[in-house]
Amino acid sequence: MPGYDFGPLPTKLPPEAEAVKGKNSLQAHAAKFKVLAGAAVPVRALQADPVFQELVADQYGILVPENELKMVAIRPSLDKFDFTASDALLAFTKQHGMKLRGHTLVWHGSVPQWVRQQSSTLDLRKVMVEHIQTVMGHYKGQIQAWDVVNEAILPSDGDPNGMRKTVWFNAMGPEYIDLAFRTAREADPNAKLSYNDYGVEYDKEDQAEKRRLILAMVRKMKAANVPIDAIGVQAHIRVGFNQSMGTGLKEYIDAIRQMGLDVYVTELDVNEDDVTYDDVGKRDAAVAETYRQFLTLMLSNPATKAVLTWGVSDRRTWLNGFNGHSQKFPNRPQRCLPFDAAYKPKPAFFAIRDSFDHKKI
Ligand code: XIL
Repeated sequence: MPGYDFGPLPTKLPPEAEAVKGKNSLQAHAAKFKVLAGAAVPVRALQADPVFQELVADQYGILVPENELKMVAIRPSLDKFDFTASDALLAFTKQHGMKLRGHTLVWHGSVPQWVRQQSSTLDLRKVMVEHIQTVMGHYKGQIQAWDVVNEAILPSDGDPNGMRKTVWFNAMGPEYIDLAFRTAREADPNAKLSYNDYGVEYDKEDQAEKRRLILAMVRKMKAANVPIDAIGVQAHIRVGFNQSMGTGLKEYIDAIRQMGLDVYVTELDVNEDDVTYDDVGKRDAAVAETYRQFLTLMLSNPATKAVLTWGVSDRRTWLNGFNGHSQKFPNRPQRCLPFDAAYKPKPAFFAIRDSFDHKKI
């Protein structure tokens, strides 16, 4: 992938990263308050980079493969499953006493070509059910939580219940959600089952509507005894978050807690595309402050049980875009994650760690 040149891979951890190992790590601080600290990792990059492995193994209590459990990655054709990359990550987590999160079983963003091409002839109900049974069956008893359904609500698609008009919705109607969760519970009764979505963090009207629709959907599920344990807040937020957030998100996670569900922060990162100044010190401070404000709010609710960032180091982040470049400032790689490209902890790292220390139990 063409992109920024971050120089050669680090050959050892910088002293600043050594200094935050063990009891000074994110997971050690989070564990005091029974929270899981984690991150998404690109599995092949992890395999190719022993220093990154050392960093990750020490800092986190849970990992999630950034792409390798998605349908596109794991199911190249109707009857073929390829678990190679996710099996390797499972082995890595076991070796280091960490947990693994499953992301994701049913998602509009990861529908393989073979499903799209044959969507009018395939029995999509069968495809989805078999998918959940096979993938969850393969990892039975070994995955802490699964994002069973990802991003199913999109009011602008025009459905009266706000459902996104995905391949699965178009084939089965809104019932596909209940079916997916029921199938998931049966396939692995020990895994926590979660509904994951973005665009619920801000006090804007469209996000308020999304929050209402998600809560309404989950309330209906609960009333019909559909198994669900947690709601994921993706948290792809932006610098300046505090200017337009607070009440809505707080009420949302309170409502989730009142339903008896847990809250997971599943994909946290802080996009700094709105920052117009280039000074690295100032940018890092602004990113850190945004992490702090957001996590202080999330962790003040005892329902929040896990915080995962979407990536570890600025060397590898999806925010640099599909061509490897940041969207608004092509000459400026994003400094959106807790570690810099040389694996040095940034102010964001310390902001995240401090937030764990102030967690309410
Ligand atoms: C993203 C990955 O980070 C990219 O590498 C991939 O090209 C597209 O998907 N919401 C989700 C994640 O639930 O799965 C997405 O991950 C980011 C948005």
